[in-house]
Amino acid sequence: MLFKSPRGTKDILPQESGIWLKVEEKARSVFSLFAYEEIRTPIIEESKLFSRSLGDLTDIVQKQMFLINKETDTFVLRPEATASIVRSYVENTLYNVPAVSKFYYMGPMFRAERPQKGRLRQFHHIGCEAIGSYSPYLDAEAIALASRIISSLGITGHQIIVNTLGCLNDKKSFALNLREKLLPQKKSFCEDCQSRMAKNVFRVLDCKNKQCKDIILAMNLGVSHICQECRKHFDDVRIGLDLFGVSYEVNPLLVRGLDYYTRTVFEITHKDLGSQDALGAGGRYDNLVEELGGPARGAVGFALGVERLLLAGGGAIARDGEGQSPDCYIIPLGDEAFKACLKVLQFLRDSGINTDIDYLEGSLKSKMRRADKSQAGFCLILGDNELAKGTAVLKNMRASTQEEVNLTQLVEKIKVYKPKDGIKSC
Ligand code: HAM
Repeated sequence: MLFKSPRGTKDILPQESGIWLKVEEKARSVFSLFAYEEIRTPIIEESKLFSRSLGDLTDIVQKQMFLINKETDTFVLRPEATASIVRSYVENTLYNVPAVSKFYYMGPMFRAERPQKGRLRQFHHIGCEAIGSYSPYLDAEAIALASRIISSLGITGHQIIVNTLGCLNDKKSFALNLREKLLPQKKSFCEDCQSRMAKNVFRVLDCKNKQCKDIILAMNLGVSHICQECRKHFDDVRIGLDLFGVSYEVNPLLVRGLDYYTRTVFEITHKDLGSQDALGAGGRYDNLVEELGGPARGAVGFALGVERLLLAGGGAIARDGEGQSPDCYIIPLGDEAFKACLKVLQFLRDSGINTDIDYLEGSLKSKMRRADKSQAGFCLILGDNELAKGTAVLKNMRASTQEEVNLTQLVEKIKVYKPKDGIKSC
């Protein structure tokens, strides 16, 4: 029987893992630039954490959670990390500091959705949460940070969309008004929207169905439901974005699908992604820390979908930088030489030179082909003749030159060509 990876999951093979590392490294360095520190939380959490945070009636909680029932407890594979980080912030009393706590994270998330391009059941987030301030400039900084990570990957052609949902009171009155306005036309909406009207009325606003979209646009909803304080907050977010030099568009129909959001919400879309066009998204969630048992603390964050970053910018990311080929590839010829090569292998590695050795049988020609394929900077050939003399043949694979070198000079010879950043630049 041939096993396959579960539907909606993907292996990240060695030829792809280099690009993943690069994305993670770039993101880490941008997070450091913005004074964020890494947090790692468990992949399983109590299921109630998400129904309490995201909302009982959201799609994620209703349809997409991977449940694990263990005796009387129900855990889930985390569908997102914001709730986990707030849980950890409260549990570990991280709020007892007179500062904004800035966390970043990266790792797999799980949602039992119908898989399609850019939509998986196990996907990966690179995200952050800044907890402990209500400043609108922190929202602007978070958006600038997301934008900078995306640009640092060489991705172009994305668009930042922002909106404000207002405070909890604004959301409540807007939900009531919206429902009143929509119900008379209920039959004209798609089936999903008809059920959203009862359960999660905001979601009607970002339905992708053309007919639903047209009715909503014709309603010209505006921002009259947003209180003065929240409008001022949004104005200041926009001032911050201008000061950070971030281009954006305001779209009053952007609502996001999770209940915890208040005030600022944003999404970053990319034109090449098709129907799942969000590279990432986020917003402010000023009530969640209290909701999960902590003190009142303002907070804002976002998450980028790594698979979608790669779909949008894989080419640019791959071109930027070098692969993970070894510095040196050793070809032993004969049994005695093999043993000597193991010592050389150990010695080169101890000296900080990335080295691989040829374990397969075959002719010198086939071994050289493998050395070539490994893209090593150097190939070291050692047979019984060389062994007797204490030498080896060192071939510079880039320059196609070779010389017989004394084994004691090996590291020196290779290191001449191995500047700080690696041998490939020789
Ligand atoms: P989200 O919009 O659910 O937000 O997810 C963020 C991003 O993850 C999406 O924009 C998309 O790029 C990617 N994504 C989501 N679902 C999938 C999927 N099934 N397959 C592939 N990629 C996917 C959140 O999760 C919030 N926690 C973001 C946040 C952080 N808000 C405040 N802080």
